[in-house]
Amino acid sequence: MKAIVYTEYGPPEVLQLTEVENPAPKDNEVLIRVHAASANPADWHLMRAEPFLARLENGLLKPKNPRLGADLAGRVEAVGRNVTQFQVGDDVFGSMPLNELGAFAEYVCANEETVALKPARLTFEQAAAVPLAAFTALQGLRDKGQIQQGQKVLINGASGGVGTFAVQIAKSYGTEVTGVCSTRNLDTVRSIGADHVIDYTREDFTKNGQQYDLIFDAVGNRSVSDYQRALSPNGICSVAGFTSLSRLFQVMLLGGKKIGLMETAKANKKDLVIIKELLETGKVVPVIDRAYPLSEVPEAIRYLEEGHARGKVVITVEHNNKT
Ligand SMILES: NC(=O)c1ccc[n+]([C@@H]2O[C@H](COP(=O)([O-])OP(=O)(O)OC[C@H]3O[C@@H](n4cnc5c(N)ncnc54)[C@H](OP(=O)(O)O)[C@@H]3O)[C@@H](O)[C@H]2O)c1
Repeated sequence: MKAIVYTEYGPPEVLQLTEVENPAPKDNEVLIRVHAASANPADWHLMRAEPFLARLENGLLKPKNPRLGADLAGRVEAVGRNVTQFQVGDDVFGSMPLNELGAFAEYVCANEETVALKPARLTFEQAAAVPLAAFTALQGLRDKGQIQQGQKVLINGASGGVGTFAVQIAKSYGTEVTGVCSTRNLDTVRSIGADHVIDYTREDFTKNGQQYDLIFDAVGNRSVSDYQRALSPNGICSVAGFTSLSRLFQVMLLGGKKIGLMETAKANKKDLVIIKELLETGKVVPVIDRAYPLSEVPEAIRYLEEGHARGKVVITVEHNNKT
């Protein structure tokens, strides 16, 4: 089968479309014929080994796992003998653990606990756009953010992969949502349900006198004192991303109890089912910016790295012997 492989760290040019052996499912795994995948910042962090700490997990000099791609949607082709939840022919979606990436490929084996039945109303591309970004939004808002109905919630980076899910998931909790994005994305952020939008090129949300019960930051470009100014007295700030190591360390060291990094998002069945229900009821609709074929994963990653995707960047996987 064809897969995207990288054997050294570096820019998108290190990614090669290569013939590799077809995977075979272990007892608790399903073999999935991938129809679509999606790109996440995790892919380019691992590809470049940036920040440098990524090397501690993925290999000091070269990648231990030469494959990328977390999110996928596709059809079950075979099941391991202990698999109970799926059968051949099921359409599924899900996310591979960060140390087992490999969705940028024609086939992948996944533990049955990491996938769920694809909502019928979603295309493969739409379903593949969801898992990691939606896990991040859900876990950041709920676990670190302690989101409650009726709160005033601000999403920084509301137009990105994570942000577009965060706006919709925060709305599903019955909150009043303000989305921060640039001018060209104001309409998109309004269209997915934000009650208010702030154009960061014209207004600084930390200096307009407004305060929020919960700030979910999918950019990570603000100082601790900025967050403090924009938080109500008991407010919580949950930070998912960071734009520099100094921002990261400042939040870790000076944030205190109320301002802090969310834990790294974890793929798990319970949350995948929660997200699936939000998709099935139409409370969450994936926003897709662009789709690239498997052979153009390097271009897709290059585009994502620019940091201005509107929603998700997806990969479509064509099969020559398509039925
Ligand atoms: N903690 C975790 O487990 C976890 C998991 C997944 C992702 N993350 C992190 O979360 C962050 C977001 O991920 P993502 O997938 O959403 O990335 P993304 O899709 O690349 O985000 C791009 C978005 O960021 C917006 N943006 C850029 N600069 C901005 C600014 N100054 N103010 C407001 N918005 C700005 C862009 O909007 P404009 O074009 O309008 O500027 C664009 O829509 C990344 O840092 C990623 O590494 C963390």
